[in-house]
Amino acid sequence: MQPEQWIDVTPEKFNYSLDHFVIPRHYENDLQSILIPNGLIMDRIEKLSRMIVDETEGPLVVCCVLKGGHQFFADLVSFMKKCVTKSGHNVPLSLEFIKVKSYENDQSTGDVKISMTDAELEDLAGKNLLIVEDIIDTGNTMVRLLKRLQTFKPASVRVASLLLKKTHLSCGYVPDYVGFAIPDSFVVGYALDYNEYFRDLDHICVINETGKNKYAVTK
Ligand code: HPA
Ligand code: MG
Repeated sequence: MQPEQWIDVTPEKFNYSLDHFVIPRHYENDLQSILIPNGLIMDRIEKLSRMIVDETEGPLVVCCVLKGGHQFFADLVSFMKKCVTKSGHNVPLSLEFIKVKSYENDQSTGDVKISMTDAELEDLAGKNLLIVEDIIDTGNTMVRLLKRLQTFKPASVRVASLLLKKTHLSCGYVPDYVGFAIPDSFVVGYALDYNEYFRDLDHICVINETGKNKYAVTK
């Protein structure tokens, strides 16, 4: 997928007021704007599923990166099940779920902790993987995850990320499939959280200062 095929979410084109769509009452005061309404997210995922299936031949192991990736994963898999390859068949899918944590105090080794057991990871050898992530921000965690997965010798690894943040902190990593390229703001909703809140919001929204303060973690 080429960058021209990403949807570029610029403030001029994407500027929905909170009054334009339905927001849960408990988040009404905590958001600045709606960046990507749920209907548009769904239409975009349908297109991504077609692009992925068009470039897939054999069975695929679809790996959900938890927790933020769960909604994108669920909707992507459900569209992929309805897609057929050029030869007219559905792609056999198996599903995996991983939690990934970067080692914060040892960035230079580029290591990550993965919740899958070694036996589960060894099972990936020779398989075609599709990693499903909600957002690529700096890209550091994904780069480390891919490096770790490569040691288990999968046949191929592709990454689909619903969002790619346009940030100067990016390490330069670009996923194979991108739904939307978004501005450098903190976004929530559609399973993306702020301290575990806002996962129950259907639209992707920009949080405001009230929301940040209300749901801040106090130590
Ligand atoms: N929102 C939620 N989670 C995130 C973000 C974001 O903007 N960037 C990286 N993780
Ligand atoms: Mg994520």
